[in-house]
Amino acid sequence: MDRSFPEGFLWGAATSAYQVEGAVGQDGRGPSIWDTFSRIPGKTRNGDTGELACDQYHRYEQDFDLMVELGIGAYRFSVAWPRIQPNGRGPANQRGLDHYRRLVDALNRRAIVPVLTLFHWDLPQALQDLGGWPNRDTAERFADYADIVHGALSGEVPYWITLNEPWCAAWLGYGSGVHAPGLRDDALALAASHHLLLAHGLAAQALSSGEFGIALNVQPTAPASDDPDDVAVARLADLHMNAQYLDPVFGRGYPAELLERYSGVSDLAFVREGDLDTIARPIDFLGVNYYRRHTVTASRPADVVAEELPGSLGAWSIVPPDVGVTAMGWPIEPEVLTELLVGLHREYAPGRIVITENGAAFDDVLGPAGGVEDPARTAYLREHVEAAREALGAGIALGGFFVWSLLDNFEWAEGYDRRFGLVFVDFPTQERTPKASARWYGEVVRPGGVLPV
Ligand code: FCB
Repeated sequence: MDRSFPEGFLWGAATSAYQVEGAVGQDGRGPSIWDTFSRIPGKTRNGDTGELACDQYHRYEQDFDLMVELGIGAYRFSVAWPRIQPNGRGPANQRGLDHYRRLVDALNRRAIVPVLTLFHWDLPQALQDLGGWPNRDTAERFADYADIVHGALSGEVPYWITLNEPWCAAWLGYGSGVHAPGLRDDALALAASHHLLLAHGLAAQALSSGEFGIALNVQPTAPASDDPDDVAVARLADLHMNAQYLDPVFGRGYPAELLERYSGVSDLAFVREGDLDTIARPIDFLGVNYYRRHTVTASRPADVVAEELPGSLGAWSIVPPDVGVTAMGWPIEPEVLTELLVGLHREYAPGRIVITENGAAFDDVLGPAGGVEDPARTAYLREHVEAAREALGAGIALGGFFVWSLLDNFEWAEGYDRRFGLVFVDFPTQERTPKASARWYGEVVRPGGVLPV
C-alpha cells in the first residue's frame, strides 16, 4: 500500500465553541441552551458546565503556537451563535465578531487553515424559549446569522460547515433528552430535524464564496445476527441515523420507509413545498464524523450491555464480542471506516469527502515525569488513518482528516471525565501537555509525512 497522502490533503484537529471557549459571560455573549442545560443538577457528569472549559477564548494564541509546534496544519472550530446574536436575532454583536476575526487572523498568520462550523449545538437560549429547532423560524434566523458571519469572515475562511451532526442536535436534544435542551418527544425531534436541514439549505444560499459542506455523524449499522428482526431493525436504524440526513442533502427527499414508520407520530406538516429543494443545494464537500458502528438487535439482550437507540425504533446497540472499546464504551472498528467511505461514494457520489471528526476517549493520566503516554489513542488513530488511506487507494475523493479533538474538553453530558484530546488539559491550572499521540500525529501529517509501517 502507498502510505503517502496527496498534496494539499487537509490534516487537522477539531474543537467546538461551547466545549473549549469558556468566557460564557464575556463581550456580550448571550446564554445558550448548553449553559442552561448543564446547570440543571443531574444533566451532566459531576455537574460539569462549559463555563471555563479550556478557556480557549483567552488562550487561542498559545493553542495555535502548540499546533505549529506539533505540525498540525488545519483547525476546525465553531462560532458560538450567542456571541454573534446574543438573543439569536437582530444586529450583530461587534465584540463577538471581533473575537472570531482575531482568532481567524491568528490562524492565518501561522498558515493554519481555518475550517469554520456555524452551528455546533450551542443554540441561543432566547430561540429555545420561542420553541427552538422544532420552530421553523429558527431556520430563518440561522440563515441571517450565517449571512452575518460569512459577511465578516468570508475573505479569511476558505471552508465553511453549516451544521455539526444534526442527528445529535435533533434526536439527543429533543428525542432522548440526554443533550440540551433535554426534551423527550419524537414529534418535536422530527420537526427539529427537518428545520435543522432547512437551516443548512437556507444558510447555503448565504455562503456565496468559499467551499461549504455539512458534517454528519454517519453511523453504519449491522444486524447483531441473521434473525430477520435484527436485520430489519438494523436497516431501520441506518435509515434513521444516516439516510434521514444524507438522502435529502443529496436531493432524494426523505426515505419513504422512515416516513411511514413515523406516520403515527407526526403528520409532517412542517415539510413545506420547496423545502426539499432548498435542502438539496449541492454541497462542495461532505463532512463525515466517524467514531463507531452500531451492531443492532431488536430484542434487548439480558447478558450484555445494550444501549437503546433514540427514535423509538425498538433497536438496541451492543458491542460485539471480542471488539475493544474506548472509554466511552464505543466499539473500535476501524475497517468500517473504509467500507463507509466506499459506500458513501457509491451511493451518493459526493464531490469530496472530508473526515471532519475521528478520535477516541481514553483514561489518560499525567505521568510523574510530566508526559502523557496514550498508546491506545495512537493505535486508534493509526488504524483509522490507515482505513482512510485505503479509501483513497480505492479512488475515493478524500480531502482531509480532522482528529477530535485538539484538546481535552467539555464532552457534553459526560463533562470533563472523557478525554478526547491530542493535548492533555489539566483543568484546574489550564496547563496543556501534548500526549504521545499528538507527537505521532504530527510526524504523519507534516508535509511529506507518511504513515509509518
Ligand atoms: C461528536 C461531537 C463532538 C464530540 C465528539 C466526541 O458527536 O460532534 O462535539 O463530542 O462527538
